[in-house]
Parts: sequence; C-alpha cells; structure tokens
Amino acid sequence: MDVLPFKLPRLLVVGDVMLDRYWFGEVSRISPEAPVPVIKVQHLEERLGGAANVARNAASLGAVSTLLSVVGDDEAGRTLGRLLKEGQIDANLHVDSEIDTTVKLRVIGRQQQLLRIDFETTPSHEVLRAKLADFESRVAQSDVVVLSDYGKGGLTHIAEMIRIARAYDKPVLVDPKGDEWGKYYGATVITPNRSELKEVVGRWSSDEELAIKARKLRGDLGLEALLVTRSEEGMTLFAEDTHHQAAQARQVFDVSGAGDTVIATLAVMIAAGADWAEAIRVANIAAGIVVGKLGTAVVSRDELAAAL
Ligand SMILES: Nc1ncnc2c1ncn2[C@@H]1O[C@H](COP(=O)(O)OP(=O)(O)OP(=O)(O)O)[C@@H](O)[C@H]1O
Ligand SMILES: [Mg+2]
Repeated sequence: MDVLPFKLPRLLVVGDVMLDRYWFGEVSRISPEAPVPVIKVQHLEERLGGAANVARNAASLGAVSTLLSVVGDDEAGRTLGRLLKEGQIDANLHVDSEIDTTVKLRVIGRQQQLLRIDFETTPSHEVLRAKLADFESRVAQSDVVVLSDYGKGGLTHIAEMIRIARAYDKPVLVDPKGDEWGKYYGATVITPNRSELKEVVGRWSSDEELAIKARKLRGDLGLEALLVTRSEEGMTLFAEDTHHQAAQARQVFDVSGAGDTVIATLAVMIAAGADWAEAIRVANIAAGIVVGKLGTAVVSRDELAAAL
C-alpha cells in the first residue's frame, strides 16, 4: 500500500533560513572565573534551520525542493549553501553583505542543553525585494508554494508573493509569525501553533471557543483552511469541515522543527492532490516520527510509508 504520492511533487519554499549549530561536550567542573560549568567540546553538528529545514523535510519526502532565501556574506551563509547542496535542495540563496546569517548555537553537555546563543541582526533594509521576479518564474514551475515566516525580514513582500502564486493558481501554505496577519490574506492555509494563534485571536478555554475564533479568522483572511498545530494535543484543521488528529502517542525527544515537518508534509500531500483530511493525517504521523528524534530532524519517505 502506498498512499504517498507517486509523482514527485515540486515545492517552492521561500522564507527566513537559519543555521542550527550544536556543540556537544563533557562537563566536568565549574569555572574558576565565574559560577558556570566548563564544557569541553567533543563534537559539533550543523543543520539547516527555518525555511531551509522545511525544504530539507520536503526533499527527504521525495519532493523536488527549491528554496529561495537570503543569507549574509559570511561563514554561516556558506555553510548553509553547502548543507543545502548535500541535501539535494535546489537553493537560490541571495547573498546580502549587509545582513548576518542567523545562527542558533546550542551548547549541550550530558544530553542537556546548557545554553543557546543566537546570532542575528534585524535587516535595516528590505531583503528579497530583488527576488520577486525570480519568485514569479519559480512559482510557474512549482506545484505548491510554502512561505516560511520566521519574522527575520525575508518575507517583507509576502502579500505580493501570495497574490502572484494565487494568480498562477498554486496552493500557498504559510507558517505565520508575529501579530499582523493581514499580510497573509488569500493564502490557501496557514499553520500557526497554539501560542502564535493566541497572540492574534486571544486565548480560548474550550474547543468550541477555538472553533469560533478559527472560523472568524479563516473568513477574515480569506483562507481555505486554518491548521492549528497543538503540540501534545495534535492538530486541528478548520476548513469547510473540521478535522482533528490526536498526537501520536510515542516517546518525545525533541519537538524543535516539528512545525517544519508538518508544513512540508502537508505541502507534499496537497501537491499530490490529497484532500485535507488525508493530508493532515499524514502530516500528523510525520510529526509524531520527528519528535521522537533528536535535533532538527527529518522523516524519510520510507519511514513515513512504514508508519502508514
Ligand atoms: N509533545 C508532543 N507530543 C506529541 N506530538 C507532538 C508534541 N509536540 C509536537 N507534536 C507533534 O508535532 C506537531 C507540531 O508541533 P507544534 O504544535 O509544537 O508546532 P511548532 O510549535 O510549530 O513546532 P516548532 O516551532 O518547534 O517546529 C503537533 O501537531 C504534533 O503532531
Ligand atoms: Mg513553528
């Protein structure tokens, strides 16, 4: 039985990329300089983050994955370029010497995160504007567009991107950030987690109240669907009908990147013509697999097929 798409879907992913860096080591003493542990770094790992992780998830599921983004003219930007190439992602990285590539460095000792260090700058000017023409030509060659907004400035023109993609009749999936969602007007689906949604519609105290808020938001933003990812509560999709999937009961090691897996899987399923119910069923199973892995991990097509 293969409910996964047969034809290779073509995904265009646009958004903020970042480099996830991990330093693993041994902690054996407290520093004589300050009351902090001293870690002797034994190995490091580097992984694609943000929109790059969405593109990587899609490629891992067998999609033809294209990424459009901006990096700084720095070592982290070049590392991202190399990792994307290794991950067989067709990356179009615009190098902007005025920005720093976002890096999230985690220091891990004895299986425990001791510290996270973020390197990032808010761009002082509009990045990706020059990329709109590029965007349009790539949209035409894609089945589905994913806009992965991490609020780092790479999607200043998101409203225009949605308009262009919809003009080509391509489904647009958006992972939102921030509290101004008017710019997502006309997207096919947006995929907030609970706290992102709460920031925009306020808190809810029952599923009924959530449904009312979701229905209103869906109308206000002209969305076909609203997918709320609810961590250990699974996910609920509000469209013409409502579809809920309970979280897969399994050991949870690391939830970071689960949202990226969800939107990538959803996009692959939609590109293949699945309906909403089937698409979120598979996305939820993929998320259940990925939270059982350490770090910003991905699910392979074979793993997913086995789980289905
Ligand atoms: N603790 C958990 N137990 C079981 N499943 C989980 C858990 N956390 C996440 N998941 C699965 O992953 C999906 C997405 O998780 P979540 O709602 O936390 O997204 P997110 O906050 O965008 O994730 P992230 O930003 O870390 O990538 C959930 O809908 C669920 O299927
Ligand atoms: Mg998320």
